[in-house]
Amino acid sequence: MIYRLARSVLFQFDAEKAHDLAIQNFSRFTGTPLDLFYRQHVPDRPVEVMGIKFKNPVGLAAGLDKNGECIDAFGAMGFGFVEVGTVTPRPQPGNDKPRVFRVIPAEGIINRFGFNNLGVDNLIENVKKAKYDGVIGINIGKNKDTPIEKGVEDYLICMDKVYQYAGYIAVNISSPNTPGLRTLQYGEALDDLLSQLKQKQKELAEKHSKYVPLALKIAPDLEDHEIGQVASALIRNEIDGVIATNTTLDRSLVENMPNCNEAGGLSGRPLQNRSTEVIRRLAEELNGAIPIIGVGGIDSAVAAREKMMAGAQLVQIYTGFIYHGPKLVKDIVTNA
Ligand SMILES: Cc1cc2nc3c(=O)[nH]c(=O)nc-3n(C[C@H](O)[C@H](O)[C@H](O)COP(=O)(O)O)c2cc1C
Repeated sequence: MIYRLARSVLFQFDAEKAHDLAIQNFSRFTGTPLDLFYRQHVPDRPVEVMGIKFKNPVGLAAGLDKNGECIDAFGAMGFGFVEVGTVTPRPQPGNDKPRVFRVIPAEGIINRFGFNNLGVDNLIENVKKAKYDGVIGINIGKNKDTPIEKGVEDYLICMDKVYQYAGYIAVNISSPNTPGLRTLQYGEALDDLLSQLKQKQKELAEKHSKYVPLALKIAPDLEDHEIGQVASALIRNEIDGVIATNTTLDRSLVENMPNCNEAGGLSGRPLQNRSTEVIRRLAEELNGAIPIIGVGGIDSAVAAREKMMAGAQLVQIYTGFIYHGPKLVKDIVTNA
């Protein structure tokens, strides 16, 4: 009810303004009596995935709290884990505005933010300040002006910096909004990236006496045989987890709807079935070797259950949260 009201106010603003207002208020309200607007009790439903204990299997997907400014607010809503980022080595402004659009009839969003963020050092300061007792995943990417051939270096820089503060590290090579980024999902480029990340993880685990799992985040727009190749590369390089999926370039389910021709990645309900298909294919290929975090269009407990039945051990939400608010977290934890 409260969220329905808040949403009707926020949806009067353009999508990015609404996002900024929500983030500002979350960070302002946390720890004050005003956080009762979103604080809720969510039952415990512990799961262990990638060797980490999660108090429940529902996480916030990357991109909503890019700079880790509201981790405690998302904790108060009952999320079992919060993935912050994508963060890059240096701060960058992202693409020109407007760059995020609602596709309301489909409960979708199209965004072309382009990794706007305040840089990895700022994110770490925010993570250090957070009191949240759940798992914090840190999602890392490359700066737009780093040539793609040198992209691996950006991931290694971020990994080095975030390692000791992260519950797990998510490696984002699947955003459609950084030119060339998705080419890292294929063939030798992928193997090269994963082997360097694995090597770095070994060094850092020794240095910090702490093992922090690595999860690769992939796109929904991969062909079946490409999903098979990704799965083999993950196994070969002993990567700890895979997050499926990021946003899609496909517009077939939103044709003729408002904003459907905006460039960028589409998320929300129109992505739901495709991302479940990718999870199912991955699960067949991985055969239990590597856990899957399922994300894409989850807007109900049933949709979350579908992801789990397809092979996901954990789920994440973003667009469903924008349309349905914190009660979606509780609904999934309780009923999925
Ligand atoms: C506005 C917006 C910004 C996003 N930014 C990021 C990001 O920075 N890094 C990332 O890995 N995924 C990002 N995503 C993708 C989401 O984490 C998620 O994978 C995708 O939206 C599918 O889930 P959903 O349908 O629940 O939104 C973004 C999504 C949206 C809608």
